[in-house]
Amino acid sequence: MTEQREEGAGVVREAEGREHGHPDQTVGVGPWKGMWPEGDHWDPELLTHGDRRNVLDKYRYWTHEAIVAELDTRRHEFHVAIENWQHDLNIGTVVRTANAFLAKEVHIIGRRRWNRRGAMVTDRYQHVRHHATVEDFVEWARGEDLPILGVDIFPDSVPLETYELPRRCVFVFGQEGPGLTPEVHAAADATLSIEQFGSTRSINAASAAAIAMHAWVRRWVFGQRVG
Ligand SMILES: C[S@@+](CC[C@H](N)C(=O)[O-])C[C@H]1O[C@@H](n2cnc3c(N)ncnc32)[C@H](O)[C@@H]1O
Repeated sequence: MTEQREEGAGVVREAEGREHGHPDQTVGVGPWKGMWPEGDHWDPELLTHGDRRNVLDKYRYWTHEAIVAELDTRRHEFHVAIENWQHDLNIGTVVRTANAFLAKEVHIIGRRRWNRRGAMVTDRYQHVRHHATVEDFVEWARGEDLPILGVDIFPDSVPLETYELPRRCVFVFGQEGPGLTPEVHAAADATLSIEQFGSTRSINAASAAAIAMHAWVRRWVFGQRVG
């Protein structure tokens, strides 16, 4: 189920300022100057007090609902999922990148609670769905006819760099330490690895997620085929 946040708009805006690590008055724009513009997407509170949110300039003074509705008209066809069994700190960053690259939805598999700090409040503009178990997640993906692409360094993984990514898919990322669970590995239509050249076993999940999402963008927004 898509999660709803219950905070009032003012509380959320204050949180956005804090997440930025800036005093409220140093980011964004101040109160609207001159005659107020007309239209349902303008937020009277923001026009009055200014807009300090982490949003593109074109969305300044828009209501939260209007921004989400506009994003919904052009979301991409890939989803991202991350396993959450140990409160992995990468999840917030994955959510933020999913927002930047306009993933259709983000899926949290496992614990419902996750550390939102790295998300910089971008989760409010994203549809975040929770699945309590891998089984629930797989059932959802199969029901949507979405290929499950596990991303991890398994012996049977194929290189992301030369894999023809499908337009509709869900990427799944694992946690620091254990990586993807055997259940996700078994359910995946393919597992993809990102080539490394140094001595470390792996990069962190948020970095891997950014690379995978951008590979999708290169293929399906810029038409760059890998073959
Ligand atoms: C730190 S890694 C997990 C450890 C890894 N399973 C190992 O054998 O050391 C956490 C997650 O980041 C992603 N990841 C990290 N490096 C990767 C790589 N080179 N290729 C694909 N995924 C990677 C995967 O989603 C993985 O589950």
